[in-house]
Amino acid sequence: MRIFLDTANIDEIREAARWGILSGVTTNPTLVGKTSGKSHERVIQEIAEIVDGPISAETVSLDTAGMVEEGRRFAAWHPNVVVKVPSTPNGWAAVKQLKQDGIRTNVTLCFSANQALFAALAGAYIISPFVGRLDDISEDGMQVVRDTVEIYRKHGLTTLVLAASIRHPLHIIDAAKAGADIATVPFKVLEQAAKHPLTDKGIEAFLADWRKFQEQ
Ligand code: G3P
Repeated sequence: MRIFLDTANIDEIREAARWGILSGVTTNPTLVGKTSGKSHERVIQEIAEIVDGPISAETVSLDTAGMVEEGRRFAAWHPNVVVKVPSTPNGWAAVKQLKQDGIRTNVTLCFSANQALFAALAGAYIISPFVGRLDDISEDGMQVVRDTVEIYRKHGLTTLVLAASIRHPLHIIDAAKAGADIATVPFKVLEQAAKHPLTDKGIEAFLADWRKFQEQ
């Protein structure tokens, strides 16, 4: 499973890329809205300068023609741009048209395996089941990931499953166990997942013993 960062924050992206684990970035209107002083295009291009992998940029149109127009514009920003459209019939229609243009799409705001199936049939490059937002309403968000992986594998559908709306480190583990191709993770959760108190304690003990050895 590959790790993407779910952010438009350049500093967070730079740090996660430094770790050597980052394969891509997902953004959305809320995340881009947290940036300031830069155009949407500039935000995406700055990310592309740091990460050589898929970078999702989200459309805001509700109609197919608007999504396609935005998608064609976003795709011209950088070859690594993947165009995000919502899990709606208009979104799937936009996926079909953009694929004919050779433009990759990420179908977002996916909350059921049916929506995931339709996105794959339309030709989506990535599907983004939102795990955390389903958990937030007492549904089993990871089950949508498991069902989607099962359906795609049984029917030879090649759309990549990207577990999104990740709320905590166990979501990363569960997404990997569910067979997701990608998990897109907020930087705060990535930091939590990276840390373990026994690692810190073990480093301290090794260094203390090494200092004693050096002082012999
Ligand atoms: O960016 C897509 C998705 O990961 C957003 O998740 O629920 O934390 O806004 P959420």
